[in-house]
Amino acid sequence: CPLPPPQGEWVWVDSGQGVPIGAEVKLTDTGKLQLFDDEGKEHEINKKTEDAFRPMHPTSVNGVDDMIRLGDLNEAGLLRNLLVRHKEGIIYTYTGSILVAVNPYQLLPLYTTEQVHLYTDRRLGELPPHVFAIADSCFFNMRRNKKDHVPVCVCFSGESGAGKTESTKLMLQFLAAVSGQHSWIEQQILEANPILEAFGNAKTIRNDNSSRFGKYIDINFTMGGAIEGAKIEHFSSLAYKHWDLC
Ligand SMILES: Nc1ncnc2c1ncn2[C@@H]1O[C@H](COP(=O)(O)OP(=O)(O)OP(=O)(O)O)[C@@H](O)[C@H]1O
Ligand SMILES: [Mg+2]
Repeated sequence: CPLPPPQGEWVWVDSGQGVPIGAEVKLTDTGKLQLFDDEGKEHEINKKTEDAFRPMHPTSVNGVDDMIRLGDLNEAGLLRNLLVRHKEGIIYTYTGSILVAVNPYQLLPLYTTEQVHLYTDRRLGELPPHVFAIADSCFFNMRRNKKDHVPVCVCFSGESGAGKTESTKLMLQFLAAVSGQHSWIEQQILEANPILEAFGNAKTIRNDNSSRFGKYIDINFTMGGAIEGAKIEHFSSLAYKHWDLC
C-alpha cells in the first residue's frame, strides 16, 4: 500500500486540461495533508486519489535555466518551468541553443548598454539566458568562420504577439552596438525598421502592432565585423507569417 506523499513534497496532479500541473503537499490547520496546486486549487489526499499523484523531479520544483536539464522532460515539465520562471520575472529560458522568450508585456531593464557589454564575447550558457546571448553567439561564430563566409541565420518563431518582431529589433540593436564602427549605415538600419513596421502593421486582437508579413533581414558585414549593408524582404506567403528571420 503506497504511503501518501510527505509534507513539503511536490507532485504532478491532473489539471483536467490534458497536461498535469504542479502541486505541493501542505499540512492544513486541521492537521490534514492536502495538495495546493499551481493554480491555487486544493486537492484531497486519500486512498482513492493518492495513486494518481506522480512525484515531481527536484529540477521542476524551482525551475532551471536550460530545460535540457529537466528530469521531467515532457510537456508538463516544460510548461511549469516557464511558469515558475515567469512568476519570478524571468522571461528567457534555454532549451540547448534554442532560446524561449515569454512576452512580459512590460518594459524590463534588460536591454541597457551595460547588458550589451555584459553579453559581448561570452560563451552561450555562461550568463543567464538572454536574446543578446544568442545575438553574441551568432556574431562571434560568424567572425570565427569569416574565411569560409558561412552565413548565420536566426529564426524567430511563435504565435501572433509572442514577441518575434521585438526580439528581432533587440538582436539588430545588439549587432549594431557590437559591430563597432557606429556608422551612418547602422543608424539607418535601426531607424528604418520601425518605419517599415508602421506601414506593414495592423491592430489585431492578439497584438496592437501585428506584422502583416514575415520578414527576412539580410545583414552584410565587412571582414572586420562592421555592418556594411542590410536588405529587408517580406514573405508574402501566409505560411511564413509567423516567422521573422535575421
Ligand atoms: N521582450 C519584450 N519586452 C517588452 N515587451 C515586449 C517584448 N516582446 C514583445 N513585447 C510586447 O509585445 C508586443 C507584441 O510583440 P511583437 O510585435 O514582437 O509580436 P510578433 O510575434 O511579431 O507578432 P505578429 O506575428 O502579430 O507580428 C510588442 O508590441 C511589445 O509591446
Ligand atoms: Mg511581428
